[in-house]
Amino acid sequence: MAFARLSVLVALALTATQTVNAALTKRVTWPLACTANPPVVVPLFPIVDQIQQDLFDGGDCGEEAHSALRLSFHDAIGFSIHGSGGGADGSILAFNETETAFHANGGIDDITARQFPVFLETGLTAGDFVHLAAAIGTANCPGAPRLEFKFGRPAPKAPAPDKTIPEPTDSVTSILARFADAGFSSDEAVALLASHTIAAADVIDPTIPGTPFDSTAGTFDTQVFLEVLLKGSLFPGNGSQSGEVLSPLHGEMRLQSDFVISQDPRTACTWQSFVNNQQKMVTEFKAAMAKLQVLGQPRNLIDCSDVVPVPKPFTSAIKFPASFSREDVQIACPQRAFPSLATVAGPAPTIPPVPGS
Ligand code: HEM
Ligand SMILES: *[C@@H]1O[C@H](CO)[C@@H](O)[C@H](O)[C@H]1NC(C)=O
Ligand SMILES: *[C@@H]1O[C@H](CO)[C@@H](O)[C@H](O)[C@H]1NC(C)=O
Repeated sequence: MAFARLSVLVALALTATQTVNAALTKRVTWPLACTANPPVVVPLFPIVDQIQQDLFDGGDCGEEAHSALRLSFHDAIGFSIHGSGGGADGSILAFNETETAFHANGGIDDITARQFPVFLETGLTAGDFVHLAAAIGTANCPGAPRLEFKFGRPAPKAPAPDKTIPEPTDSVTSILARFADAGFSSDEAVALLASHTIAAADVIDPTIPGTPFDSTAGTFDTQVFLEVLLKGSLFPGNGSQSGEVLSPLHGEMRLQSDFVISQDPRTACTWQSFVNNQQKMVTEFKAAMAKLQVLGQPRNLIDCSDVVPVPKPFTSAIKFPASFSREDVQIACPQRAFPSLATVAGPAPTIPPVPGS
């Protein structure tokens, strides 16, 4: 029902002339959400509400919001500048039987299973759904940028090829080569890793699901760029697992890939530049996400960014976790000053898991 209604409206809207459109606007009570010339009516606001209610518990920055952002990356990165099509097309939902079997997609079937019924309810194409859900889920996290949302992706034609998603055991050279093949510079790759500020691992060490990558997984702050640089001393779960390296904090996991990227001469200064620079991080993350979320898609998508909720701001200075200081930082960009940061008072914390993982 919802699907049929939306398709008709959208089909009308997309072919409407300005005159027809005036009549259509009259019949529809929803606000105009999208900029296009001639203007078109896309009834997205009720769909945004529905996604908030049915997927994000009314607007939380929890496990579902985090995994919606991860899903948009795993969907879109199946793209190559040397190929054609694919990319941010929602194939990860529509062809979930194929793509969830890829090694790098461990745990992704939980997300697609959670999103699939909501996707059907909305009547959007799989690509529009995956990338709208990621923009909304991210917006639920204080400090996040308001991501763009472009509307009008066609239905996906085929699953993405395997081996396009970077793995935490990959070398920096291979990770940067894969990003370059998808059209991203090394600086853009580092900016996209800001995503790991609202992230946790379920699969790396299955004995400790929901183990976060920083001490503030519910806030889109720059804490992850600081904590990945702190000297490691422990494994948070059942010893050393493939893809993790020593972590500085109980209850926190450090991905090997994040660590080697933070230390490599090609990426270390960009990594360090985001520490306590919220504005730089969100500006560069937003720009890189805008590219990611339309990879391989037609150029004439309609800008419907106005439907994306406005995130709460995060304006505090970040701090070293309790008991840590500048002496614990593994500086890999000595040519630039490291920001001066206060330390949280008290004994070293144990970071709690992200609920619902
Ligand atoms: C070098 C590239 C990357 C590697 C190797 C990588 C690897 C990983 C791994 C291993 C996990 C944990 C999976 C689990 O055990 O459950 C994870 C989680 C996550 N990743 Fe990445 N990632 C990369 C880039 C990205 C990018 C570009 C984004 C988004 C723009 C992203 C978003 C996320 C999010 C949000 C989570 C947390 C999901 C949740 O908490 O449910 N990652 N990543
Ligand atoms: C996978 O897609 C099928 C439709 O092709 C759907 O019925 C099923 O619920 C989806 N499962 C998951 C885990 O996403
Ligand atoms: C913990 O790790 C050891 C060695 O890697 C493995 O043999 C054991 O099965 C693991 N325990 C659990 C509960 O997964």
